[in-house]
Amino acid sequence: MANHVDLTAIMTALGGRQAMQDVLGVGASAISNYIARGSVPTHVRSKLYNALTARGYQVRLDDLSILCGPDAATSQIKKPMVLLIIGGGIAAYKALETARRMQQLGLDVTGVLTKSAAQFITPLSVAALTNQKCYDDLFSLTDEAEMGHIRLARSADLVLVMPATANLMARAACGLADDLATTILLATTTPILMAPAMNPAMWAHPATIANQAILRQRGIHMIGPTEGDTACGEIGSGRMSEPADIAATAFELAVKRPQSLAGKTAIVTAGPTVEPIDSVRFIANHSSGKQGYAIAVALAARGASVTLISGPVALPAPPQLQLVSVQTARDMQAAAHAALPADIAICAAAVADWRVAEASHAKLKKPDHRTDTQMQLSLVENPDILAALGQSDQRPTLLVGFAAETEDVLENATAKRHRKQCDWIVANQVGAADDPVFGSDQNHIMLISETAVENWPRMLKTELADKLADRIAMEFGT
Ligand code: C5P
Repeated sequence: MANHVDLTAIMTALGGRQAMQDVLGVGASAISNYIARGSVPTHVRSKLYNALTARGYQVRLDDLSILCGPDAATSQIKKPMVLLIIGGGIAAYKALETARRMQQLGLDVTGVLTKSAAQFITPLSVAALTNQKCYDDLFSLTDEAEMGHIRLARSADLVLVMPATANLMARAACGLADDLATTILLATTTPILMAPAMNPAMWAHPATIANQAILRQRGIHMIGPTEGDTACGEIGSGRMSEPADIAATAFELAVKRPQSLAGKTAIVTAGPTVEPIDSVRFIANHSSGKQGYAIAVALAARGASVTLISGPVALPAPPQLQLVSVQTARDMQAAAHAALPADIAICAAAVADWRVAEASHAKLKKPDHRTDTQMQLSLVENPDILAALGQSDQRPTLLVGFAAETEDVLENATAKRHRKQCDWIVANQVGAADDPVFGSDQNHIMLISETAVENWPRMLKTELADKLADRIAMEFGT
């Protein structure tokens, strides 16, 4: 079987979709087909290999995975910089090997030690290995004069936290800024990758689970932990991922163009709508808003100016975007209309199809002496926000809808794409008892466009959001 080829990474390295089309001498639909299949014919493989190596990348021949970025000296491209925050856990010593591996991949590394990390490794060893000053003190006047924590936080292409201890994750989730590490995490606008490592019981504790969910929801990437023996002798999930894997993931995140959607405007709808029956009762649905929020975060992280229009959900407001909170479908439609014009619109909300024709201002009462035990509610259809955007004079350049189907997913979703005049439909099967989507952190979708149907493997909603945002950037040739 042919090796899986990550065409998204290759396209980024070559400079976008158009650049890849030029290299291969093919049109957009051929590229979409390669991406959908995840493999390319041999003659295409050698063209891509030659184009990447000509640009200074070191590439593996079998699956075209990029091992190393262009050499800074010859390409005059500034090497991507990783700010390596080392937490105070026994796995801290592995940060040194990870730093070395990242350097081998062509990344510059600057170290930051927490106070407890300095109990495990010394600033001197980090500085010697990285050839850079190692920072550890928020209030050091020299550092504040020479660089300042804000500049340090912003100068990185990636902030990597390893080992991410339970304590460090908890402080980051709370937004504390009581040392240099947490201040950087609060001040940075670049992507963050955390590699958790802790005792299995600490990892399984509801407090850590909640903190991890908050951090993920804010767009922080996680690698590991894995199953295995931990330093404390207990076996379970809590072991930090291996340095080679952490370095490879850091490379992917650091060389990705973080601002690939700069200058673009996006509207994202998310969550349920809530349609009143009377002053205390309503019609709603189980949508958690997680997928829509993750997409909004991923677009904003790539520099898009995002308006997130959300029904009532139990999620924190993500930073760096405009959140418009609404209740009903009509509120959501008005907010979407007000946010036009936009380059991109992603309708991930589970909008109620109907509302009560005349909601009562007072609480409806049961009659005292009932002869009729039935209650009739008269429903009228809600506006279709996605379809209205599709027909608008100010139709966004890229319009994406969602389709949650219980059967015949491909047929129904394709028909929906035509009916609602959108460019892409993100379709998934819902309703299977063993495969919940509502409220879950995972999703399993098909991306349906005019030219291709892509079956994406099951992944975290945050990962799916990242992948979708990268595909959107490619669509715009960035
Ligand atoms: O028709 P259906 O509800 O299955 O369509 C789903 C897609 O249409 C989703 O993208 C959803 O956000 C959007 N939609 C909408 N307004 C409605 C109903 C659905 O924007 N009233």
